[in-house]
Amino acid sequence: MKNLLNYEGKRVVVVGCFSGMGESTARIVGELGGEIVAVDIKKPSVSHSKFFEVDCRDPSAIDSVVREIAAGGPLDSLFYCAGLPGGSFPNVDVMSVNFLGLRHMVEACAPHMKRGDGIATISSGAGMAYMMALDRVKELLALTDHTEALKWVQDADAEGGLEGYSFSKMCTIAYTLFRGPILTQETGVRINCISPGPTDTPMMPHFIENVGKTFMDNFPKPIGRNSTADEQGWPLAFLNSDAASYISGENLFTDGGSSGGIMTGSIDMSQMSSG
Ligand SMILES: NC(=O)c1ccc[n+]([C@@H]2O[C@H](COP(=O)([O-])OP(=O)(O)OC[C@H]3O[C@@H](n4cnc5c(N)ncnc54)[C@H](O)[C@@H]3O)[C@@H](O)[C@H]2O)c1
Repeated sequence: MKNLLNYEGKRVVVVGCFSGMGESTARIVGELGGEIVAVDIKKPSVSHSKFFEVDCRDPSAIDSVVREIAAGGPLDSLFYCAGLPGGSFPNVDVMSVNFLGLRHMVEACAPHMKRGDGIATISSGAGMAYMMALDRVKELLALTDHTEALKWVQDADAEGGLEGYSFSKMCTIAYTLFRGPILTQETGVRINCISPGPTDTPMMPHFIENVGKTFMDNFPKPIGRNSTADEQGWPLAFLNSDAASYISGENLFTDGGSSGGIMTGSIDMSQMSSG
């Protein structure tokens, strides 16, 4: 039987592969035969053919690295796994890496990709309430120019009306659902995101510091534990593989069932903040 998860012959860009889910994705996709082009602010140790040091807050750095990658060969697959936690970093930086940089990278790469190729990005369960903030989210999505979008974010932050982390994740889901189908129609490239639940990566201690250990311990986890980085890397690898050739414009909750339980009210949330 043909293995549709096979990445042999594919040149795969993994953004944010120094640690966590991006590192797992790069390792898994590399083991599935892909050639890994690594992009991060820090040099990763995961096996790769080429590394580009890029700060994803900087759109011109993204443009020039994408030009260089595309000039060096085909771009068959893009994973955007770079991210910053809220609280520990300024809201504007969190928005810049988690959403504005993500969108800029996706829009810059898609024209270099061919029909059937995949782009997969990472949102979060923290973005699950995007429908409740849709007017605001759509206001930002409508600003397709990076400078204008950044100004909108800076103004919202200065007015004290921005929780950067959850808003960046709402924007990522909404971008995937609204822009994804259009991008697919225009280029044939599939675009999807995952929304992980609590995952044991170097980001986890920041979440514990910001929202408290009790909150994280009591966060609903129907499977009874946090996920591992590989348990996020595999769904990402699936989404960009030929096994997912008819999946596009999708947000996949990779959270062991917690968002379903929370959204339907079938999971009791009352214990989350109690000690
Ligand atoms: N860990 C969790 O519980 C959890 C849950 C839901 C969603 N997420 C999301 O998953 C994604 C991956 O996070 P992770 O948990 O693997 O954490 P992580 O900190 O291990 O990985 C983040 C990666 O982004 C890179 N990065 C940070 N700033 C950058 C910048 N300015 N430019 C380029 N690269 C940069 C880091 O070097 C690192 O490789 C993030 O978007 C995060 O918000 C994490």
